[in-house]
Amino acid sequence: MLLVKLGGSVISDKSEYRRFREDVVWRIAKYLPKEDMIVVHGAGSFGHILAHKYKITEGYSDDKRLGFSKIQRDMIDLNLRILNILVENDIPAVSMPPHSFVEMGNELNFNLFDSLIHHKFVPLSYGDAVFDVNKGINIYSGDLLMLELAKKYNPEKTIFLTDVDGIYDKPPGEHDSKLIKVLHRRNDPQTEISVKDVTGGMELKINVMREIAKYSKVYIINGFHPERIHDIMNDRDFVGTVVL
Ligand code: IPE
Repeated sequence: MLLVKLGGSVISDKSEYRRFREDVVWRIAKYLPKEDMIVVHGAGSFGHILAHKYKITEGYSDDKRLGFSKIQRDMIDLNLRILNILVENDIPAVSMPPHSFVEMGNELNFNLFDSLIHHKFVPLSYGDAVFDVNKGINIYSGDLLMLELAKKYNPEKTIFLTDVDGIYDKPPGEHDSKLIKVLHRRNDPQTEISVKDVTGGMELKINVMREIAKYSKVYIINGFHPERIHDIMNDRDFVGTVVL
């Protein structure tokens, strides 16, 4: 099985509210398998802008209700656009909105995923605004969902499509930053030091990826070069990072 995450910065232009990159998702869809796959997508500018504005991760208050509704609406909108493209590319995807099966702080219920997979559908889920047993409301990231799915289904390969070539030893673009081709899951002092400089958000992502690597081979590649998905599927040399 392949588990794949379409990063929010690939499928949307992060700088503009609800700017969808339709052409990019079409190109990606051409390189995805038609079965034996779970797809998760991020939010980009369909989620993060309002999540930040309404401080959703700080929990419930009355004045956040409209923001919570709008984020869920925008994510349904984004999800439908992606669903359309997958289905038009003959992928039998079925939408699984997290706000209807995730309550943060409680165990996930995978019954519907089990049925979808059993019937060879392709579950399509995403990061979302959801309920939280402690905070009332919260943001459930697609990366955390990836971890739960990897734990449950042990996919052979897990691919993160991002807006850069992979994981770098320093913020990409910075003077003499280098792409890390192989990142080890376990404490490798050398790698540990080299990825120390990256920003907080990225550090968290890398930790989740390392955790997922317990259950699956994890690849981080550039979503703007989706032909690299084929390289990975065919065990060829590829441009990107593998976490072992
Ligand atoms: C965030 O999901 C969900 C919302 C803000 C509603 P992700 O954390 O998976 O999204 P990206 O990939 O960073 O955009």
